[in-house]
Amino acid sequence: MTSGIQVEGLVKRYGDQTAVDCVDLTVPAGTVLGLLGPNGAGKTTTVRMLATLVRPDAGRATVLGYDVVAQAQQVRRLIGLTGQFAAVDADLSGRDNLYLIGRLLDMPRRRAREQVEQMLDRFGLAHAGGKLVRDYSGGMRRRLDLAACLMGAPRVIYLDEPTTGLDPHSRNALWATVRELVADGSTVLLTTQYMEEAEALADSLVVMHQGGIIASGTVAELAGRVGGRTLHLTTVSPEQADTLATALRVQLPGHEPDLDGEQVRLPLSRDEDLAAALRVVASSAVTVTAVDTRVPTLDEVFLTLTGASTEVTPERSQV
Ligand SMILES: Nc1ncnc2c1ncn2[C@@H]1O[C@H](COP(=O)(O)OP(=O)(O)OP(=O)(O)O)[C@@H](O)[C@H]1O
Ligand SMILES: [Mg+2]
Repeated sequence: MTSGIQVEGLVKRYGDQTAVDCVDLTVPAGTVLGLLGPNGAGKTTTVRMLATLVRPDAGRATVLGYDVVAQAQQVRRLIGLTGQFAAVDADLSGRDNLYLIGRLLDMPRRRAREQVEQMLDRFGLAHAGGKLVRDYSGGMRRRLDLAACLMGAPRVIYLDEPTTGLDPHSRNALWATVRELVADGSTVLLTTQYMEEAEALADSLVVMHQGGIIASGTVAELAGRVGGRTLHLTTVSPEQADTLATALRVQLPGHEPDLDGEQVRLPLSRDEDLAAALRVVASSAVTVTAVDTRVPTLDEVFLTLTGASTEVTPERSQV
């Protein structure tokens, strides 16, 4: 297994606060690692160290075998970074921003121009390519930032909350682009607050809390620790939801459905539970208008792992 990113005992302190506290990570080349965690967990600081933008206080990290401190130049040539905050020049057009990046990456003029048009097209910015970035909407800026990051088809890609503020279409475009790059062998470190995004892209997950790693595994493994997927059944009235919940309770002993207005939520601990629950639905007289299964949210996983909601990190919010 070739190691894409290897991190051992990485530490970053800011004053008396330890933003990243002895973190170990392994991202095999050609895979996606999802880094999850609430605000202030240390995700961006970790990414910035791996991107050679912040110097670690202790520990070691290599990217495709190159040390992020001793061989920072080599590392910079391999990576594409998209920050949580867009890093494009507002006084240039989207097209000029991308062209400039292509030229900085030593692309010949013609190749740079072709690549720019491809990226504009891919991220739905072809019509806005000539517009100054300061006149872009937030989502357009975000897409341009992503296009900028992917201009050089980097072999290692850091995506720090890439889809925050994107509409569903752009989100899907980004997910498709990431999948293509990974299929071509790129290694991706993705930070996100969304379990859905982790599920869509990540081969494995690491959950950070107060600078440290508190859990890791596949999406299914982490979701399993919170009772796995949940089946959401939408009926037409609270009374019908209640009738359905009773039927589920009787016919699927050991499962405790939750009621929320017109909706019934049923934890699915095993794959077979889904078919069994749908049989109950089919045999009942209740009108079900929507059926949905859902992985737990980061907040739910977090609550189980730490006993605290992602919103409750008082010692962090004082900073
Ligand atoms: N340059 C800095 N100076 C001082 N403190 C910092 C600096 N950068 C980060 N921190 C602190 O380190 C901790 C981790 O921050 P970081 O940005 O890595 O978190 P995060 O997991 O990316 O959070 P978010 O989800 O809000 O983006 C926070 O408490 C933050 O205040
Ligand atoms: Mg961050």
